[in-house]
Amino acid sequence: MILATVDATVCHATRTATGRCDWTRTRSRGGYFRNAVYRHWDPYEAIPAELLAQDRERLIDSDWTDEEFRGFRASIAKFGAGEEAVTEDLAPLAIALDDIDDGMFVSSQIYEEAKHAVFFDRYWREVIDPVAEARGIERLPPTDEEFFNDAYVQLFDRTEAAMHRLLEDGENTVHNRVVAYCHYHLAVESVLAQTAYYGYQAQYSDTGPEFDQFEDGTRTELDGLIEGITRIRSDEGRHVGFGMRKVQEHIEAGDVDEVIIRETLQELLPHIAGIVDDGQYDTDFDSTPLVEYASEKLSRRIEIITSRDAELPPRRGAGPDQGRRGGRCRLSRSRGPRDGLVAGDVPTADVGLAGRRALQQ
Ligand SMILES: [Fe+2]
Ligand SMILES: [Fe+2]
Repeated sequence: MILATVDATVCHATRTATGRCDWTRTRSRGGYFRNAVYRHWDPYEAIPAELLAQDRERLIDSDWTDEEFRGFRASIAKFGAGEEAVTEDLAPLAIALDDIDDGMFVSSQIYEEAKHAVFFDRYWREVIDPVAEARGIERLPPTDEEFFNDAYVQLFDRTEAAMHRLLEDGENTVHNRVVAYCHYHLAVESVLAQTAYYGYQAQYSDTGPEFDQFEDGTRTELDGLIEGITRIRSDEGRHVGFGMRKVQEHIEAGDVDEVIIRETLQELLPHIAGIVDDGQYDTDFDSTPLVEYASEKLSRRIEIITSRDAELPPRRGAGPDQGRRGGRCRLSRSRGPRDGLVAGDVPTADVGLAGRRALQQ
């Protein structure tokens, strides 16, 4: 992989007059790499241990049934396993892309996915296991097969296959790369992950959307979880923006027919719904709003990507001059009241007016 990167770097350097990277072109693409560097955060330090301890105490003191806790634990396990899976599955794309600017961004994305996995690992050790013990529930590793239903296994197996196909002889084609983006950046990162964030925000934070089922004030606020999720969402918005832009570029260039995007995403939607609407644990939680949200999110992604007029954010690079965003309390302020747009979906500080309109459609 190192050799492949070096080759691409040297090769690209010969094509540009300014050095190894074409900084002008990088900025025109939205400055994703610069944005990633500027928004760096430390998964070991940025979410204080005290905040996780508070989650732990609240869960121990809560009136949740054991089955409700088991359901919550399974959702954390799925998230953590998902972050591990995407960390591993992105490597083939880094090798397949021969553009140094793209390669730099994907390398930052692999690093960020690993950071996300670290956060969920911390949450398991500092919150989930101690709460299970306090409740007299058997401690399980986050990889226990109990947590993963068929829909989950199917979606991630398909994503792994789509990514690793790029390494096979003759398979690193534009068509296959677009299919890979559809699996990874659109289905998993955009639709599934964003739906899960939306659900967590509704269930465990007063900054989230209002669900009828929590109207009676029974919500247990988990500030440590929401703090971690907020930072992860900010990264994921950048990842999704990159994937969407790559797919849109290929459509605009006539490299692929947009029907591929529709077919791939629609084929994956039942698996996403099957994960969101697990039904394995006996709780009162009604997943209907989440399934609807996932379906709507998927339709909007297709609309935006296939719209000739939509400008995909972020167009401009984020730097010190543009202010820092991403704190816990900013979520509700940056989400529009009508459109259900999830903050962190894109780094909205960098989105032009056209981009915001496109995402709010
Ligand atoms: Fe991630
Ligand atoms: Fe991601």
